[in-house]
Amino acid sequence: MVSSTQGRYTRTAIVLHWLVLALLIAQYVIGWTMPHIGRHTPVTTLISLHFSVGVLIIAVIVVRLVWRITHGEPAHEAGIPPWQVRSASVIHWLLYLLLIVVPLLGWINASYRGMPITFFGLFHVPPLVGTHAAGWDWTGDIHTLIAEYGILPLVGLHVAAALYHRFIRRDQVLQRMLPGV
Ligand code: HEM
Ligand code: HEM
Repeated sequence: MVSSTQGRYTRTAIVLHWLVLALLIAQYVIGWTMPHIGRHTPVTTLISLHFSVGVLIIAVIVVRLVWRITHGEPAHEAGIPPWQVRSASVIHWLLYLLLIVVPLLGWINASYRGMPITFFGLFHVPPLVGTHAAGWDWTGDIHTLIAEYGILPLVGLHVAAALYHRFIRRDQVLQRMLPGV
């Protein structure tokens, strides 16, 4: 039973949350399968798909952030230790931040490399910096570094916390983010 004080995320927030998970799984699979991008790498279908899915992720995250800021967070059930509420909040905001910063760095790096970026072949996405513009050569390395050693460990902690609430504390935290039945 969900206690009467326990809130649940709105249907929109829930759909957006699980959509981002699905897009991220696809994005890492594509990122690790596509050819390693070097100086003369041609833009293959997989690389182009990586750009498109990445741009889609930024768009969805921006919508999610606007929704979150305008709708707030549902009330917590009684008895959740304040440190857990605070640390969850820190991880959530860090995830939002990195999900904007990482694709932006990828977008800058693809622009720096002079690679064409389209949105699933439907329209061209403008470059953010000029080809080989001075000062932007580091963006590819940092994009990959934060994608692999920033986002992934944070998601790991986040999922571990969700499982801890579900199976050890046996409270209703996970249910807040699941579609109502
Ligand atoms: C949240 C979204 C994204 C994630 C999680 C992600 C993840 C990754 C990962 C894991 C790699 C490393 C691939 C390898 O091992 O070689 C990579 C490389 C790359 N990604 Fe993304 N990416 C995202 C969005 C984007 C976007 C939006 C673009 C461009 C529009 C982009 C452009 C690139 C480029 C150019 C590289 C090669 C970087 C280099 O090695 O110098 N990425 N990405
Ligand atoms: C199996 C994977 C996942 C599970 C089980 C899960 C579970 C949850 C749960 C239960 C909440 C509500 C937490 C609370 O009420 O305090 C939540 C919120 C959140 N999750 Fe996940 N999550 C998963 C994957 C992800 C991924 C991949 C991301 C993004 C990288 C993510 C980002 C967030 C964010 C930002 C919030 C806060 C929502 C808000 O207040 O705006 N989650 N998640």
